[in-house]
Amino acid sequence: MNLNNPSLLKTSAYINGAWVEAKDNKTFPVHNPFDGSVIAHAADCGKDETSKAIEAAEKAFLSWKKFTASKRSRILKKWHQLILANVDDLAKILTLEQGKPLAEAKGEIKYGASFVEWFAEEAKRVYGDTIPGHMSDKRIVTIKQAVGVVAAITPWNFPNAMITRKVAPALAAGCTVIIKPSELTPLSAFALAELADQAGFPHGVINILSGSDAPSIGEEMCANKKVRKLSFTGSTRVGKILLKQCADTVKKVSMELGGNAPFIVFNDADIDEAVKGAIASKYRNAGQTCICSNRIFAQAEIYDAFTSKLAEASKELSVGNGLDEGIHVGPMIEEKAIASIENLMEDAKAKGAEILTGGHRIEGTSKLNYAPTVLTKVHPEMKIFSQEIFGPIAPVFKFETLEEVINLANDTEYGLACYFYGKDYAMIWKVAEALEYGMVGINTGMISTAVAPFGGVKESGFGREGSKYGMDDYLEIKYMCWGGID
Ligand code: SIN
Repeated sequence: MNLNNPSLLKTSAYINGAWVEAKDNKTFPVHNPFDGSVIAHAADCGKDETSKAIEAAEKAFLSWKKFTASKRSRILKKWHQLILANVDDLAKILTLEQGKPLAEAKGEIKYGASFVEWFAEEAKRVYGDTIPGHMSDKRIVTIKQAVGVVAAITPWNFPNAMITRKVAPALAAGCTVIIKPSELTPLSAFALAELADQAGFPHGVINILSGSDAPSIGEEMCANKKVRKLSFTGSTRVGKILLKQCADTVKKVSMELGGNAPFIVFNDADIDEAVKGAIASKYRNAGQTCICSNRIFAQAEIYDAFTSKLAEASKELSVGNGLDEGIHVGPMIEEKAIASIENLMEDAKAKGAEILTGGHRIEGTSKLNYAPTVLTKVHPEMKIFSQEIFGPIAPVFKFETLEEVINLANDTEYGLACYFYGKDYAMIWKVAEALEYGMVGINTGMISTAVAPFGGVKESGFGREGSKYGMDDYLEIKYMCWGGID
């Protein structure tokens, strides 16, 4: 791999400030999803290495929590600067192991860095309260304290930003961390660890390890009493397993799980803007984000105009190798992922869906490039209505009334992000209030930013990442009742 800063290509685990191999020097291959080539072999860690990392984090917690907030903030700021200074290399590593186009990968590195900057600032604003006492001789004060050792399990779709979004608030709060990135994309995580090391985090404050047997690492993180908090981003299925595993040690938990985002276009919407928003939210990362619009609903009057414009715009997207100039949509992450969307397509076609554009893999070097696809004549009995697609397929459902579309939009166990386009002021408020989701995009398809609280309701999870709320999950409130003050 040709990098300006070759020190960023690390393949070992980072435990207690040292780069270490897995037991018996075990490794697993990391592939480029575009052509299947092996780009590196990473240390294949399991339960033992996880437990060592937890011990290191526990020891480091004793001193890290005592650092002043401004000292922690300074190290976080240094990390932020180093991430930005290495954006090109970090993006290249990310595209190589994940597939997203280079420009999008750079966007992710900057997005990831913005969480580090934000929480470096928030570190200094962890305030307690004084509460008017309930008796005349009593005074009540609250303080906030770091939870302790935090375990973070992060996904392959954002190999950089999903780490910083959890780790930066944890570190700012005074917690120490053990991170398990997806085994599909460990290299971006190791590169972040290298920069954290250069930024001067004390040994044991940040630990990162990966392994091909993800459940054994996850089980240890959940079972180990020294871990006081688990933060997970990934599927609802795995989230439920981790939740059960965390019950025995009653850990604090936050879960950022799957989504089934509705994207609603009302008759009075600006159709061109709605198409732009749909393209941005549907095809980001080849449709592989939890907040990608999953079910598009267009109102009857504008249905034909909207779908044909969406199909035209989808056709214009170039699909290929994320490293090549001008590519908008990279490969899917792995064969399993593309097989799953093919299964949804088969079901939709068998039940009457019509393909306006796409609907097939792209012939060429990559087996994992799928054409941006727009479907009409879709209905709620199709699997595509209730399952998270996680691919570049845009089914457009037709609706007549506001009440009907709210019911359809809420007819899912998920509640992460939703979007709608329209102009009527009163209708906007009513719809935003009625949608059972944690995040609402109104006349925009792009809602992600470090300054806003990211998170869902229902089976999309709980906890909020980013924003002034983002540190709450890493802090405990302690209340002190002072008596005898007559
Ligand atoms: C996700 O897919 O879970 C994250 C998307 C984002 O932060 O924008």
